[in-house]
Amino acid sequence: MSQNLVIRTASQPGTAPLSVIYAHERVAPMGAGAAIWKATGLDWQSVAETAGFKGRQGQVLDLLAPNGVTASRLLVLGAGKLGETAPLNAWTDRGGSLLGKLAPLRATDIAVILDGPDATPIAIAELAAGLRLRHYRFDKYKSARPDDASGTMTITLVVPDPAATDAAIADRGATVAGTLLARDLINEPANTLGPVEFAARAAELATLGVDVEILEPEQLAALGMNSLLCVAQGSARPARLVVMQWRGGNPASAPLAFVGKGVVFDTGGISIKPAASMEDMKGDMGGAAAVTGLLLALATRKAPVNAVGIIGLVENMPSANAVRPGDIVTAMSGTTIEVINTDAEGRLVLADALWYTQDRFKPRFMINLATLTGAVIVALGHDHGGLFCNDDALSAQLLGAGLAANEKLWRLPLGPAYDKIIESKFADIRNSAGRPGGAILAAQFLQRFVNGVPWAHLDIAGMAFGTAANEINTSWASGYGVALLDRLVRDHYQN
Ligand code: BES
Ligand code: MN
Ligand code: ZN
Repeated sequence: MSQNLVIRTASQPGTAPLSVIYAHERVAPMGAGAAIWKATGLDWQSVAETAGFKGRQGQVLDLLAPNGVTASRLLVLGAGKLGETAPLNAWTDRGGSLLGKLAPLRATDIAVILDGPDATPIAIAELAAGLRLRHYRFDKYKSARPDDASGTMTITLVVPDPAATDAAIADRGATVAGTLLARDLINEPANTLGPVEFAARAAELATLGVDVEILEPEQLAALGMNSLLCVAQGSARPARLVVMQWRGGNPASAPLAFVGKGVVFDTGGISIKPAASMEDMKGDMGGAAAVTGLLLALATRKAPVNAVGIIGLVENMPSANAVRPGDIVTAMSGTTIEVINTDAEGRLVLADALWYTQDRFKPRFMINLATLTGAVIVALGHDHGGLFCNDDALSAQLLGAGLAANEKLWRLPLGPAYDKIIESKFADIRNSAGRPGGAILAAQFLQRFVNGVPWAHLDIAGMAFGTAANEINTSWASGYGVALLDRLVRDHYQN
């Protein structure tokens, strides 16, 4: 059992036993922080020098039982260079870093004084987001231990304009909730999160005003989705395709479409994976999780936009019914696919999901997210998602949103020369064609199913899970993609 976190705002510090103030590099605390420091009667210069506190971002000065103030503990946090306006995502990190400092102190009542000139409601909302993102833990399967923190940690943000700050925190909080939903779905093991259970979690978005449809195998077969279905056929658990619609925009305007790979577990199928780290493949639905989290975020903050989220949910298992290497299936688009490697299953799922999306919704664009290839991890590691895009304007918007949200992307190429490589001896295309350019070949395969619609493919295999712990995430799953796409929508697609 972990501690609950409550974040509230107030205009006055109150009597919290732990107060937090900020100080910039080589200057004493300012504003309300200065008043608090003055009450202690201590000389800033000598205390800072003794403690080696320079005011750098991430530094902490911990003052126990100071005189003159109601708090029995005063933390001074470094705020970086004065006058250098921090980018918004630095405020997110600042919140995460603060929570990291507070958690081991077991404090339950904390006041954070935020009144600097750059502490705008939007910046403070980022700090609050960082607090919540860092606070997240996935410990539902851990038995309680006697020394576990429990109860509630209340953090009061003392700000000049509580009402405006509350509104900003709620708005940004919608996106945080989406990221945390994605993390929960990714961290959940496959025995408790099959296609049916995932679809049920998506169906819960209906309470927020999202229209949710769940398509079952008979309907998918009737639509001709043999590419998606051939991946699911080896599993005892049936496939689902979930369609989530948020209509917050002009009813006449075409929706934005987000499509997710939802392989609840990827054994590789008959082309079975080695045992090492196979347990990570419970996260092979990270694309679908991000799409579901995004729809939750848009609906929670009532975004003025029309959006549709489509996720293909399957389990890739070897069995007597499993698809074999050499099998040929006809996708919904009519394209025939030779299955060379049953472990290249994500593209088979997305082929039908993408075709269905453009065919039914005629969207402004389609963006798909998928833990698609190990090759993208070889190329980019765990700091950038791979971006493939047939539209330079959309690509630029995505790269910018990635930087702003600190969920970075790096663009990789598409091109006709790669198309030649995925030609098949027996069918129109094959799903695997050797190691060189593996991430690109997968993207090129997907492009065959977008029918010319503006489209981007985000290969998030290196980003959805297993990234290094950072200021705003210490959990295995990151929720990568939700903040990025929410930023894209906020910056470019809201009326
Ligand atoms: N789900 C994997 C890709 C993956 C690997 C995601 C590691 C996250 C971490 C995908 O289905 C896969 O197995 N891809 C193969 C494709 C190959 C057979 C063409 C790969 O990347 O090896
Ligand atoms: Mn695979
Ligand atoms: Zn996979």
